[in-house]
Amino acid sequence: MKKEYILVIDSGVGGLSILAKLYKLVPANFIYFADRKNCPYGEHKKHEIFNFLDNIIKEYTSKYNIKIVVLACNTATTTSIKNLRKKYKDLTFVGTEPAIKLASDAGFDKILVLSTPATAKQNSFKKLKQTAEHSGKVIKCLKLEFFAIDIEKYFTQKSVSSWFALLKDLFFIKRKAKNFDCVVLGCTHYPLISNLIQKYVNKPLLSGSLGVSRRVFDMQKNLNTKPFVARSSVTFFSSADFSLNQKYKKIFKQILANKQNI
Ligand code: DGL
Repeated sequence: MKKEYILVIDSGVGGLSILAKLYKLVPANFIYFADRKNCPYGEHKKHEIFNFLDNIIKEYTSKYNIKIVVLACNTATTTSIKNLRKKYKDLTFVGTEPAIKLASDAGFDKILVLSTPATAKQNSFKKLKQTAEHSGKVIKCLKLEFFAIDIEKYFTQKSVSSWFALLKDLFFIKRKAKNFDCVVLGCTHYPLISNLIQKYVNKPLLSGSLGVSRRVFDMQKNLNTKPFVARSSVTFFSSADFSLNQKYKKIFKQILANKQNI
């Protein structure tokens, strides 16, 4: 029987925040694909993002025995998961959505959601927002054009300019978060620097990453696939230059070693 894989996709480093949880909770063979050539997804149109994902899935399902595809990206999920499910009926998809329901169920009344511009535009996002608003919550979405790419550069370039760009974003978010009870990190890049964001906004932070891992865990049981492997493994790929794969591997090790709680 061919080795089975879970394919985890993001535009860059962000999906590693999901993979870190998955890796610990679901012992499996993972392929991590960073679509760095098209990063940031948040600035692309819906049909473009669908095409990026479609091409990745086509290529990797032809080469590997992929059982589950995890869209470790809010932008990919809100724009494309519905149509990908329609197209790839034999695959199981798990997506990542801004944790508005989680924040609302946890009793927060004034919720600030940070997301990419593309995520904020989607109907699925508007529905999540409206459902919480109908139950009396105040939800505001802060569309951040550069935050994801600034985090991407901060992790992959480690330059002084990338650090300053990040600081600028953090001061802006701090100002906007003043009157809210909590902040939802609606892009998978953001939890990678949750400790830093916490220092600036000083409010509870929420993300969907644990929920995603739990869903994958349940799915894998229901799928009746080959028993879990004894130890997780990850193979890294990216659409940009080859050296990035090694870089992502290194960053992932650092993330696993850090205490990232959300
Ligand atoms: N990490 C992704 C998300 O959750 C995408 C960020 C981007 O590429 O714009 O939205």
